[in-house]
Amino acid sequence: MQRGREHLKARPFLKWAGGKWGLLSQYEPFFPRDWGTYHEPFLGGGAVFFHLAQVYPERGFVLSDINADLVNAYCCVRDRVEEVVALLAYHQAHHSRDYYYALRASKPVDPVQRAARLIYLNKTCYNGLYRENASGEFNVPLGRYRNPRICDADNLRAASRVLQRAKILVQSFEQVLERAQPGDFVYLDPPYYPVSETSSFTAYSQYAFGQAEQIRLREVFGILADRGVHVLLSNSDCPFVRELYRGYPIHTIVASRAINCHGRKRGPVTEVLVLSR
Ligand SMILES: C[S@@+](CC[C@H](N)C(=O)[O-])C[C@H]1O[C@@H](n2cnc3c(N)ncnc32)[C@H](O)[C@@H]1O
Repeated sequence: MQRGREHLKARPFLKWAGGKWGLLSQYEPFFPRDWGTYHEPFLGGGAVFFHLAQVYPERGFVLSDINADLVNAYCCVRDRVEEVVALLAYHQAHHSRDYYYALRASKPVDPVQRAARLIYLNKTCYNGLYRENASGEFNVPLGRYRNPRICDADNLRAASRVLQRAKILVQSFEQVLERAQPGDFVYLDPPYYPVSETSSFTAYSQYAFGQAEQIRLREVFGILADRGVHVLLSNSDCPFVRELYRGYPIHTIVASRAINCHGRKRGPVTEVLVLSR
């Protein structure tokens, strides 16, 4: 651990489609003040976790996602950060078009090598997208960054420090029902329901997230709410989502993000934040 850097505030170490870092000031008024354990079952870049972990250093956190590679990266940053940093520094020094495609084609077995590969690809691929083909292979092309920051050692160490307090699991979202207790806080940030044919962000992994999953998620939301858990859910602002959560408080959030699947067009779009009470 480097001296003198312990005060650095940890930020998400991955660029994730649908990342919430830029929206935190709009979310903040809706966070419950008092809660037991925090659960984030659609972890992605973990923006809300990183924020809450600094504000409430004494609380417990359970983070999960269905993407095993993503969860492995979090576990390695938590438990073996210096090895991750060393490998990323190596990737940074060797970065080129050929290096990107060679690493993309590789299938390391060692967890730390897998974690560094995922972070490297995330920092250098097109738009920081995570997309896999039907066989589960990452297939995003090289991005157009002049000088991508591949190894942000200070932030990785800061992230490692706050992750010490987190349990991190590979799980589908329904499993949050097995652990969330009355008074806990659950933030649900699923792949958004597409507002148009070209706006689909649902292909994060080989696990599709369509209408049936959105309906199952609504059931989970209802069970948690009835149990007395504080639940917050983000989704796209569309009639399907508003109808699904009718009866719960729904707030409108203004986001500036990619509004077509290629990320070329950016502009303000509204999203919803649904509260359990
Ligand atoms: C919108 S992203 C989360 C973004 C995150 N909140 C952030 O700020 O970066 C959605 C995440 O849900 C995960 N996911 C997709 N289907 C899932 C499922 N059935 N159960 C749990 N996680 C799932 C994806 O792997 C992806 O990481």
